[in-house]
Amino acid sequence: MNNFVSMKEMSAIQIHQLLKTASDIERNGVSPLSEQLFAANLFFEPSTRTKMSFVVAEKKLGLEVLDFDAGSSSLQKGESVYDTAKTLESIGANLLVVRHPVANQVQQLAKQLTIPVINAGDGAGEHPTQCLLDLYTMYQEFQSFQGLNVLIVGDVVHSRVARSNAYALKTLGANVYFSSKPQWQDAELDFPYLDLDEAIEMCDVVMLLRIQLERHEENTVLDQDSYLAKYGLTIERERKMKDHAIILHPAPVNRGIEIADQLVECERSRIFTQMKNGVTTRMAVIQQLLQSGGTTHVNHFNQFE
Ligand code: CP
Repeated sequence: MNNFVSMKEMSAIQIHQLLKTASDIERNGVSPLSEQLFAANLFFEPSTRTKMSFVVAEKKLGLEVLDFDAGSSSLQKGESVYDTAKTLESIGANLLVVRHPVANQVQQLAKQLTIPVINAGDGAGEHPTQCLLDLYTMYQEFQSFQGLNVLIVGDVVHSRVARSNAYALKTLGANVYFSSKPQWQDAELDFPYLDLDEAIEMCDVVMLLRIQLERHEENTVLDQDSYLAKYGLTIERERKMKDHAIILHPAPVNRGIEIADQLVECERSRIFTQMKNGVTTRMAVIQQLLQSGGTTHVNHFNQFE
């Protein structure tokens, strides 16, 4: 694996290897690096969870984190994203983590650089590390994806999380269903759309999506109460879920819109577990990329295999 930019082309074996690496890291930890390696996190779109959990993951692995801030960088003087990334590569970054508002930009950048690139979210394209932490959270719960019924609910057409999860879950043998306002369905994703009240009773995982207002071309005005009642996870719907079923949400959460406020931290919610798992799974991705891309750090990282 040279880059980690999309779940679409990942095989089941590759995904399971990453989940196993994450599990090994969680059980055994890692020992400090014997050489100096640098990571740069290039975020051209806002982030709390992804950016901060990458910083924690990088520091836990022993990498030095370059302090890049788009707002005070030479992007403000007109430098391109490519020249910014190429500059970081030239001055010694060993790894780039990139979030960009335009779909497919991170994949393009990865093709132009020699160091590993991780996609931290490209517009409405993909969010592969979010997907990996979602998969890890589901695997912790069910120990298998085969035949798992996963319902993805909400603003599907604008959601990179929905896309990455749908691709990966299909590859892993799960059944993926969507439920969405008709205007927010995605015709390019070939998965069945179900009525929320019927689907909620048969699914093992209910994954809610944030309404991505920043990607809506039209000026969407939301009536919060009526959206929740029609398309969100209300307390009444949560009561209809199977006993073992869990709730996921990539966050940030619009409390009271996609999900009733009281359910965000309810017993079956794994929303904050997902965030915790984000650190371990991102460590796994970085470790595998540095193993594939170099020779000097292979021995260090192989010690727990
Ligand atoms: N889930 C997620 O990507 O959150 P951030 O936008 O805060 O990184």
